[in-house]
Amino acid sequence: MNKKQIQELPRNIKLGNKKIAIYGIGFVGTAIASTWLRAGASIIAVDKKNTLVNNINNKKITNSEPKAREAFIEGINSKRLTATTNGKWASKYSDIKIISVPVGLDKRSADLRFLYSAVEDIITGLKKNDIIIITPTVPIGTSNKIIKWIENKSKLKVEKDFFLIYTPERISAGQAISDIENNYPPILSGAGEISIKIANKMFEVISSKKPITMSTTEAAEAEKLIEGLYRDVNIALANELSRFCENLGIDYWEVREAANSQPYSHLHKPGIGVGGYCIPVYPWLLTQTAVDKGIDMNFALLGRYTNEGMPKYSVSRIMSEINNKKKLTALILGLSFRGNVADNRISPTYDIIDELIQNNIKARVHDPFFSYDPLLPKEVKLSKDLDKVISGVDIIIIATDHDEYKEITEDYIIKKSKKKPLIFDGRNILNKSKFEKLKILTIGK
Ligand SMILES: NC(=O)c1ccc[n+]([C@@H]2O[C@H](COP(=O)([O-])OP(=O)(O)OC[C@H]3O[C@@H](n4cnc5c(N)ncnc54)[C@H](O)[C@@H]3O)[C@@H](O)[C@H]2O)c1
Repeated sequence: MNKKQIQELPRNIKLGNKKIAIYGIGFVGTAIASTWLRAGASIIAVDKKNTLVNNINNKKITNSEPKAREAFIEGINSKRLTATTNGKWASKYSDIKIISVPVGLDKRSADLRFLYSAVEDIITGLKKNDIIIITPTVPIGTSNKIIKWIENKSKLKVEKDFFLIYTPERISAGQAISDIENNYPPILSGAGEISIKIANKMFEVISSKKPITMSTTEAAEAEKLIEGLYRDVNIALANELSRFCENLGIDYWEVREAANSQPYSHLHKPGIGVGGYCIPVYPWLLTQTAVDKGIDMNFALLGRYTNEGMPKYSVSRIMSEINNKKKLTALILGLSFRGNVADNRISPTYDIIDELIQNNIKARVHDPFFSYDPLLPKEVKLSKDLDKVISGVDIIIIATDHDEYKEITEDYIIKKSKKKPLIFDGRNILNKSKFEKLKILTIGK
């Protein structure tokens, strides 16, 4: 690709002369597709889920991410968006291929099956001057392995025939489109100088922030993993310090506030568990590399084990408070791993339920965003109706910081449960000064 072609990329993208195929229209792919649609691009949305693809083509957009629905509907109306399950067809008819499929865990190592399956589809239609953009969080070295894989299979040469960019997505549910467009600078890396130039030119179209260009794809891969690890380890430190303070009868929250009044202390909040598709996964993608290369990586493991232990620790605190009484009923408030979003992936609520069941405590779950979840054990009732599901419970466990839980009052709980349940505030969100009759346990107090 010559200088002029790179210079004209934004214009050609906006005119639809350069079509973009996006592989994987989940949470991340939806946000990416929306931002490109909002910038005027023509998009082929590729996903293996038939229903999702049909829904998009029929303008039934169920994704609740702000601004996504409007972007998709406007895209379909203006014939700039079409969805397909056929990744090979999409590769043939697109010039830019963005991959946003999931990278999960298989026995604490990266599961790259979806990534390679998308790459396989792309290879079948790869043409001279095509651009491939990889966005999932991956183990260090993955982009280079993919480049070699493509070169071997397609007989095309990177930086000469095709171009490859690695740019990790850094977005949060509820603000994903704003995150891409305005909140964070894009982290860009490429197979070589031309790929990096292309990346910088392309991201001008969708981001108002000046990109951070990394010297290698490995550095960009490491950046995203380490960003996640930083949070996991710091949450683990907060959890450990909270348990320490509890034992000494010291209020961790009071200590945290005082300590964080100087600029070098950034103590995090403790909590009942760390969930989601990112923070609990990324440390394992880093330790995988450390093990392969024989490098010590103690904090990552310690952090993970500490955080994974929080549901068990929380339930054991509840059990000792109720003198190990059995056959009680507990209501868990929240199935989402984070407040105010409908996302139950790797939610600590599942581990809390397991612990309760092992202790012979019956579990129910309330979440305003969910009325059905096939992952819950059959005997666990899930409801959106708090008035009903709270009736008769002996224990209330706050697992998610949904705004509606912050407003719950003592009178409401006593009236609707018709009991005086023990409360375990796993997110420290209740206004404790307004509770007099009910006992509240909080992590770190
Ligand atoms: N979830 C987050 O908050 C977040 C934030 C930043 C980065 N990420 C990264 O993005 C990745 C994707 O996350 P997500 O939340 O969008 O996942 P998701 O499960 O919501 O969506 C992934 C989609 O990809 C589709 N898919 C799988 N294989 C495919 C293939 N070969 N071709 C086409 N489509 C295919 C699936 O059907 C699914 O709809 C994560 O693994 C992570 O590395 C996630």
